[in-house]
Amino acid sequence: KSGDKSTAPELPDLPFVGAISRYLEKDAPDAIRKEITGARDREILDRDYPYDEEMKSKDYDERMEALQLQLVRLMRDVIQTGKRIVVLFEGRDAAGKGGTIERVRENLNPRSAYIVALPKPTERETGQWYFQRYVDWLPAAGEIALFDRSWYNRGVVEKVFGFSTDSQRETFFRQLPHFENVLVDDGIILVKLWLNVGRAEQLQRFLDREKDPLKQWKLSQIDVDGLAKWDDYTDAIHDTLRRSHSGIAPWTVIRADDKRRARIAAIQTILRAVDFEGRDDDLIGAPDARIVGGPEIML
Ligand code: ADP
Ligand code: AMP
Ligand code: MLT
Repeated sequence: KSGDKSTAPELPDLPFVGAISRYLEKDAPDAIRKEITGARDREILDRDYPYDEEMKSKDYDERMEALQLQLVRLMRDVIQTGKRIVVLFEGRDAAGKGGTIERVRENLNPRSAYIVALPKPTERETGQWYFQRYVDWLPAAGEIALFDRSWYNRGVVEKVFGFSTDSQRETFFRQLPHFENVLVDDGIILVKLWLNVGRAEQLQRFLDREKDPLKQWKLSQIDVDGLAKWDDYTDAIHDTLRRSHSGIAPWTVIRADDKRRARIAAIQTILRAVDFEGRDDDLIGAPDARIVGGPEIML
């Protein structure tokens, strides 16, 4: 399948492989199907996106290398001065959280910069204080915790799929500012990033994942079932952003239809949120205001 010379027997397809292309053919809104089938190569699907095409790879590589060097300096400072950093990566399925996290982490010491990607709560965890299992993964001095999804699951996916009750959700939003304020009060640097992806682009990425044996693992039943719930997601996301954006713990929203620009903006935002030795603001540059802002850019 992947063109290798493996003699291993083929595995049966995962159950949801095929479901994405069936959705495109049968159930997707006409406008979304047209955007996908009518797109030119490399064209950005969302017509409202401020750029027509993906950033050129030469520009991307250059910018990324400079930003990676700054991340390495940040890491050194974090270890030397005992800073603690939490970065939350949120966004719809296929928004690019995983890929962005990989770029942040790739040249950092894995002992100090680690990824937190928790599975659905166990039965025991569902009987705990909601934030409890996340607290286990908070950084100690000299560590950067990169959360691929976070406690914001209660605001979005749990609402859309009914995994928690309305009363649990209200408790979550009531406790949330206290929880985040305590983290910041204790000296943790909290950066909250929301990657915003358009509907056609999301579907295109699911289709790519479905076709690619190296990427199929990224798909899940939630992705398939979520296709028909785009508007429910939108409502839950808007509600969540409105109720969780504060002076102490603000969101940075990044329009992520172009993965390259989004990754650069995410790293810029992280670098600018930390005062570290060797920080070079000219080199980091300001995040592109056409794709980066607060929640207002997606409300
Ligand atoms: P991902 O997009 O992170 O690869 P999924 O799309 O499968 O994962 O699921 C999205 C999120 O929903 C995950 O964080 C997962 O833990 C959460 N989730 C899935 N099932 C449940 C459940 N029954 N209760 C609570 N959370 C769940
Ligand atoms: P500044 O360097 O303060 O101008 O901030 C640059 C970007 O980083 C802006 O988009 C801010 O919203 C974002 N930012 C700064 N501090 C934080 C923080 N603690 N949490 C999340 N985003 C932040
Ligand atoms: C992403 O691409 O946003 C995540 O890494 C995977 C997913 O949610 O599908």
